[in-house]
Amino acid sequence: MDYPTVREKLNKIDRIELANLPTPVYGLNKVSRELGKNIWIKRDDFTGTEMSGNKVRKLEFSIAQALKEEADVLITAGGIQSNHARATAAAAARLGLKSHLVLNISAPPKTEGNYLLDKMLGAEITLLDENGDITLSQKMEQVADEYRANGYKPYIIPVGASNGVGNFGYLNTVREIIEQEEKLGVTFDTIVCAVGSGGTYSGLYLGNKIFEAGKKIVGITVCDNKDYFTKVCGTIVDQTLGLLGEGPDEDKDFTFIDGYKGLGYAISKEDELRFIASIAAKEGIILDPVYTGKAFYGLYNEVKKGTFDSCKNILFIHTGGQYGLFPKQEQIAEVL
Ligand SMILES: Cc1ncc(COP(=O)(O)O)c(C=O)c1O
Repeated sequence: MDYPTVREKLNKIDRIELANLPTPVYGLNKVSRELGKNIWIKRDDFTGTEMSGNKVRKLEFSIAQALKEEADVLITAGGIQSNHARATAAAAARLGLKSHLVLNISAPPKTEGNYLLDKMLGAEITLLDENGDITLSQKMEQVADEYRANGYKPYIIPVGASNGVGNFGYLNTVREIIEQEEKLGVTFDTIVCAVGSGGTYSGLYLGNKIFEAGKKIVGITVCDNKDYFTKVCGTIVDQTLGLLGEGPDEDKDFTFIDGYKGLGYAISKEDELRFIASIAAKEGIILDPVYTGKAFYGLYNEVKKGTFDSCKNILFIHTGGQYGLFPKQEQIAEVL
């Protein structure tokens, strides 16, 4: 792959501006002292308020594509507390588009957290138990057909906007980090993020190659496992390369760490919540219980175990998600 040419092609990909960029980067002094390792944080939770976290970086590209195709309805899916679904609803409202969210539930949901915001943002919502006989993706297709039959032009954004197009958001993040390194006078040898649907990791991984940044990109899985994400991220990376007119990446070398999913996706254990509260009190940073809380807990424990012994400066990406704390407020209050 001729990286300078690919970088030029990347500059020409359609994008709309939705995120507040660049997001701040700074050192976590107390955690670094405690661990004897330089731990830095990039506050991608500062990309916005309604359109916040990692999702908005991806939506800048997914929605640009939707607008190019003259779509008037954005359809997406996720869990009942999906940050991505809420960010999509907010972006649609801002741009004068309709939004329709297909949300996975196992029991009747309370109107709280992101689900409350989805409703406030005017999204149409279809609730679905994915353990039934239809998947979220199939339901999105059905919903899209119904809109088409009524004269609309729907555009489907997959779960987490984790596909070739959405991936462009995190390719550019690597360029942003390189610029910040120059200003800060530091080189991050390692970047760590949570892995939920694989898009953030895939973007950082491919961005690292395209910008020849030479970093180790480490993903901490908060659902599924290494084997699953090796396949998922492989597909996303190759889709993105395809959109850039390149062939597949022939020597993928992903680094995923399992073991921090805890009781399961979006289910919290007491020790995770206690850890989130301790970081809040120590560093003034609120992590979320579903993604960044588990991933940072993983990083913290793995540094203690020696997994990161060869790394000097580690950058953790705070990908947002704090609204997910509120549906767990009673459980959190119990550990304080
Ligand atoms: C706050 C937050 N952090 C991290 C992730 C994981 O990112 P990705 O889905 O790109 O793997 C998600 C979504 O899944 C998220 O909402």
